[in-house]
Amino acid sequence: MKSSTVRWCCFLFVLLILAALPVVALDNGLAKTPPMGWNSWNKFGCNVSEQMIRETTDAMVSSGMKDAGYRYVVIDDCWQVKRDENGTIVADPERFPSGIKALADYVHSKGLKFGLYSDAGSKTCAGRPGSHGYEFQDARTYAGWGVDYLKYDWCNAERQDSTESYTLMSKALQASGRPIMFSLCEWGSTKPWLWAKDVGNLWRATGDIVNCWDCKEKWGGMGVVHILDLVDGIETYAGPGHWNDPDMLEVGNGKLTPDENRAHFAMWAILAAPLIAGNDLRSMDGETRAILTDKEILAIDQDPLGRQGRRVAKDGEREVWARELQGGYRAVALLNRAATPQSISVKWENLGYPADVKAQVRDVWQHKDLGSATGSFTATVAPHSAVIVTVKP
Ligand code: GLA
Repeated sequence: MKSSTVRWCCFLFVLLILAALPVVALDNGLAKTPPMGWNSWNKFGCNVSEQMIRETTDAMVSSGMKDAGYRYVVIDDCWQVKRDENGTIVADPERFPSGIKALADYVHSKGLKFGLYSDAGSKTCAGRPGSHGYEFQDARTYAGWGVDYLKYDWCNAERQDSTESYTLMSKALQASGRPIMFSLCEWGSTKPWLWAKDVGNLWRATGDIVNCWDCKEKWGGMGVVHILDLVDGIETYAGPGHWNDPDMLEVGNGKLTPDENRAHFAMWAILAAPLIAGNDLRSMDGETRAILTDKEILAIDQDPLGRQGRRVAKDGEREVWARELQGGYRAVALLNRAATPQSISVKWENLGYPADVKAQVRDVWQHKDLGSATGSFTATVAPHSAVIVTVKP
């Protein structure tokens, strides 16, 4: 054979292979910026009910959370009790006497969106029926109820392949005819950032958050700063439509100090993280509300460029994290993990700026311009706290 014929045959062969590969591209148009909402798990665990969800929906509106951009009201585990004779999933009739559809309608009537939870295995983490073998039926049921968001867990799925299981539910959701945001929750165990971009809109990158600054639990749960360590280095996999998820917020759940709450929230914004509040919105105090609805921190999280930040400098427990913003600006966190105050500096070279560039510095939490700086900026940072600034050359 002539070499041009060989080349032509090879080209055709490659084309055939490409045509035979399954085309799985998630194009549900959702999560162009990290999703914002509320989920029942961190505060309520299995203690969920339609009354609590209705009250939370009302509080989402009256507290200003909706105006700040929070949209999704998501019921986590334990809303479901069994399957009926047709295999349809059944909500707990005592806790949800009006049914899930009526609840979703209520949430929609307030201009918000509604989410549910299931599991890729036979049972959820709390032992309720999972979706394994019922993926298409469940997706159709959810769509019929008006579900806008599905969190999909990974308990009791030991013998399953994660990519296959999540892809199956992704296809089922897409076939349901309703745009449903898809939140993968396999705890980073099979590195979803490498394969889930075309499967879901967000994927948990770590084990469960624990309501503490730096604790670590034997079962795999961890505090705020350990989560930060795990999501540093995977920033290039996040972007509009698909986000690394460092887990839901513990802001306002009573264990973190005010500084820790602010640092937790602001670091999630630096990470372009989904902001899913996990506190009791019905009784939150003014300080918690001020944190969760801070316009300038939220603008960082929701920056349209969608670049996840990363750690750009570390000296013991003094860290500098930075995130590129639209316009070439930077959001910077001077993070003090230590229990004593620390002086922390960011150098322009850590931000990719020449040292002789003059830049405007603004303290984000204080909502205050700090004037201009050349080459670096230094602040004294309280224990377990983060000073957040924007740097604009
Ligand atoms: C897992 C998830 C949590 C929560 C519980 C519910 O632990 O990671 O976020 O959904 O299951 O049982």
